[in-house]
This record gives sequence, C-alpha cells and structure tokens, in this order.
Amino acid sequence: MASRTGYPDLDALLPRLERIATLDAAALEAEQIALLGRKSGAITLLLKSLPTLPLEERRAFGAAVNQLKQEVEARLASRKAALEAEARARREAVDLTMPARRRWVGGEHPVTVVTEEILQIFHELGFAVVVGPEVETEWFNFGALNFPADHPALDMHDTLYLDAPPVDERPAGGRLLLRTHTSPVQIRVLLASPPPVRGVMPGMVYRSDPFDPSHAPGFSQIEGLAVDEGISFVDLKATLVHFAHRFFGPSTRVRFRPSYFPFTEPSAEMDAECLLCHGAGCPACKQSGWMEILGCGMVHPAVLRNSGVDAERYTGFAFGMGPHRIALLRYGVPDIRLFYDGDMRFLEQFVTAEPGREAPHPRPGDPTERGRGRGQGRGRGRGSA
Ligand code: DAH
Repeated sequence: MASRTGYPDLDALLPRLERIATLDAAALEAEQIALLGRKSGAITLLLKSLPTLPLEERRAFGAAVNQLKQEVEARLASRKAALEAEARARREAVDLTMPARRRWVGGEHPVTVVTEEILQIFHELGFAVVVGPEVETEWFNFGALNFPADHPALDMHDTLYLDAPPVDERPAGGRLLLRTHTSPVQIRVLLASPPPVRGVMPGMVYRSDPFDPSHAPGFSQIEGLAVDEGISFVDLKATLVHFAHRFFGPSTRVRFRPSYFPFTEPSAEMDAECLLCHGAGCPACKQSGWMEILGCGMVHPAVLRNSGVDAERYTGFAFGMGPHRIALLRYGVPDIRLFYDGDMRFLEQFVTAEPGREAPHPRPGDPTERGRGRGQGRGRGRGSA
C-alpha cells in the first residue's frame, strides 16, 4: 500500500512501513511499539483521535487508519517470520571451514611389534608357538630346571609366591608362584610332546622388583627350545646368528660369551653390536659397543631327564630373551616404564601407517588426546634366572 492515502498524517507514516522489511529483531520490536503501542503508538494515537472528528470525516479517516494498521501488522509479521527463518538457518548451518575430527586409529604396542617379529622369524625356522601358565609350581619354575634348592633365585626377595597352599605332588609341586622366567614352559613342552621338538614360548614373567628406569615387576620373555637327535652347539649358533641378522639387520655383528645357567651346559650369552653407535661405544651400551640380547645354551641332561626325555639319545639347545628389553634397545627408549604407562603420546610414535589406515597426526589440545624388560641372567645381578 505504498500509494498515498489522501491524509497527510497517514502519508507521513508510509516511509516507515517501507523500512520494516530492513529492520533487525531489536529494531523491529521497537518499531512495533512505536507504531502500535497501546499507550502512545503512532497509529494507536490516530485511532484514539477519531472521536474528536466530525462524524462525516470520521468514517472515511477511520477506514483509512484501520487499513494502514492492518498493513503495518502484516509487514511486522512477515519481517518477524523472515528473521526467525534466518536464525534457524544459521543454527543449522554446516561450517565447511571447520577442521574435521581426526578418526582415532590405534596401533600395536612396540613390545607386541617386537614379539611378533621375533616369533615370525622362528616360525619360518620351523619353531611352533607354545604358551604356558603364568602361575607355576616351584618344581616347574626351578626344580625341573636344575636349580639347587638353595639357589638365591628362590628367595622371597626375588620371587613372588602366591598366598595359597602348596601343590602336594612330588616332585612336580611345591609352593605356587608367579613364574620368574618362561623356561618352565620347556619342561611342559617336553612332557607334552616327545622329541623332536622345536618351540618358541612367549609370555609375561614376574619378579619381586619395584619399577625403575630399567626394571619392572612384570615383563615379557620369549623362550626357545629345540630337542632332537644330534643337535649340537653349531645348531644353536647358526640359529641364533640367523635370528640376529634377520631381526637387527644382515650386517649386524654378534658375539657369544660364556655364561652360566643351571638348566644349560655349556651356557652362553649372545650380544649384538650396539644398535645406536654400531660398536663405537655410547651411553646406551655403557661404552662397550655391545648389547646383551639373550641367554642360551645346550639343554642340561638333568632337564631332559626331568622331562622324561632320554638324555643319552637326545640333545638340544635353549635360549631366552626379553622383548621389553629388546624394544628398549631397538627404539632407544630411556625408561622401561614408558612401555607400561599407556600414554598415547608415547605409543603413537611407534604406529606405522598401513594401507587403509590413517597415520596419526596429533594436534596440541586435540580432545581425543590422553595420555618400563630388563636384563636377564647376569644383567640384573641374579646370575641365573
Ligand atoms: N631363563 C633365563 C632368564 O630368565 C633366560 C635363559 C637363559 C633362558 C638361557 C634359556 C637359556 O632358555 O638357555 O634370565
């Protein structure tokens, strides 16, 4: 109704009607009051003035004011609806500039990666994977492995005994304990399957040690065992040198040092050239240029006899290594406790990108961010277990 009304008072209001379509929510509300407010709205005042007009003018002017009022109401309502629709669209809008949420992809723990790689290498050499119980008897953990009853490894100080009645079976029983190494699985394998046998036996082992940068009360080991007719120290060396070249690289130098374990005779420890300094000497290898990788030896005849194997006919070799310790050496991790903390910031550094997987790329403050092997044998001052 932008046409003139014929009344100057009403015509004066027409530009304000045109502007209604441009007002924001607050201005719209103010304009509604200014025009239609019950006390002093401009149109309200015009309507209030009707009774003061002569009768003949009153009807025509009244009709014009009412028409203007309806027009104002319609324009206010349509502007209000348009503003609400805009606000709704803004609320529902997709912000295409917002960075996408990263899909969280986990990865294998570095100790798992190392364990799987070691098992794979021995698998290819014909070694089967066998697991044994973490709760053992004194016999399986020590006695059958030719430990003398007064060996220091049996001390409560070193070994975690269970608060449970001893297994009353001679000789296989004794006190119950958390196995301190995976070597008892050798006995179980030989009892279950007579030679020829070749097996690798991964698992957790437990010792009465507090956590520190190089010790943990629970850590992993992989035991190895091959028993057959005619097995000699040559087989042991060939197998373990092959393993070291596969795992650490073909040009890695290794050396065998004489050692002592109650369950092997002769016994040795195998060192590999330090992965960090390649033999030059660095803090990680205590300037020796070598890293102790595993204990090994020819299976002691007493161990074969304790497992029901004819020690005149069969010989064998065994070895034991610690994946936690090897992961520590391989990745140059300064504190073994990092392997136990479950801190994603540490762990995701080892995640490798695989096909179909996203490589992790952490962002500071990302809401999805959250966030201790040891030496075996002599390395920990215990000498044998
Ligand atoms: N059981 C030993 C330890 O825990 C490791 C070991 C050494 C295992 C020599 C063996 C071996 O089978 O032949 O330190």
